[in-house]
Amino acid sequence: MLSYRHGFHAGNHADVLKHLVLHEALRYLVGKPAPLRYIDTHAGPGSSPLGGGFSARTGEFLDGIGRIWSSTDLPEPLRRYRELVKGFNPEGSLGRYPGSPLVASAVLRLEDRGFMFELHPADATELEIALGSDRRFRVAKSDGLAALRGLLPPPDRRAFVLIDPPYERDEEYDAVVEAVDEARRRFPGGCYAVWYPVLTKDAARFLPERVLSLGGGTRARIELRVGPEPEDGWGMYGSGLAVLNPPWGLKAALEECLPYLADALGNDGAGRATFSWDEA
Ligand SMILES: C[S@@+](CC[C@H](N)C(=O)[O-])C[C@H]1O[C@@H](n2cnc3c(N)ncnc32)[C@H](O)[C@@H]1O
Repeated sequence: MLSYRHGFHAGNHADVLKHLVLHEALRYLVGKPAPLRYIDTHAGPGSSPLGGGFSARTGEFLDGIGRIWSSTDLPEPLRRYRELVKGFNPEGSLGRYPGSPLVASAVLRLEDRGFMFELHPADATELEIALGSDRRFRVAKSDGLAALRGLLPPPDRRAFVLIDPPYERDEEYDAVVEAVDEARRRFPGGCYAVWYPVLTKDAARFLPERVLSLGGGTRARIELRVGPEPEDGWGMYGSGLAVLNPPWGLKAALEECLPYLADALGNDGAGRATFSWDEA
């Protein structure tokens, strides 16, 4: 049952937060000489057209990347991320949005390697096309959580793992916690970033704490709410990332950007960003 298609949501507020964090984290990680292994367990289609196709049916990107596309006062890390998106739109107008694999491909070096997993056959094919003949990356049409353990520990003992499921089924919350737990046992030094939706239901509310409790090192929780909790209890009103072993430079970058993002992406003044950073 694969009804989720990321194209409907590409470039929305959750993508902006996630891809800002991903971009900054990878920038710091490639500042060290040893090769990095990037693992994207739920990679998506790689590149999504905006203003047509799936995205036109929701218009979600208009309240995400659309809100900062022309801003002239962006904090520097956010400006860097927007520059990256602009690089995929050489004609100047916002027509295409790069997903996590393309954000990674823009930052990783020749010596780094990327492993991307995407179960939906159409999105996996689109991802292969988006990455082209880039020999740094492998795309597999298989379960990324199941594959994770086999990729750890990496030969150079440096890895960044993005776990970004659709959470269509409640079992996915437990599956994420189990996969991170097992991955950390195999390779405690890796950086693990788990995206989560802000929803009223318990499975979603407890996920970040469950993930962070697995870590023995530095732990960061980054959350952006774009509106108040819905009275009827339905719908996603924000998103966040629980990150184990984040690179140090991410802290200052996020402190700089999160208040701005809350103002820019919050609806009717209801945007709220929260950020915690706990050292071991
Ligand atoms: C939220 S989207 C990914 C977005 C992408 N990471 C990005 O930031 O651009 C989740 C994707 O995971 C895929 N998917 C669902 N279950 C999966 C699994 N067990 N293994 C790999 N891919 C899966 C879905 O088809 C969907 O494209």
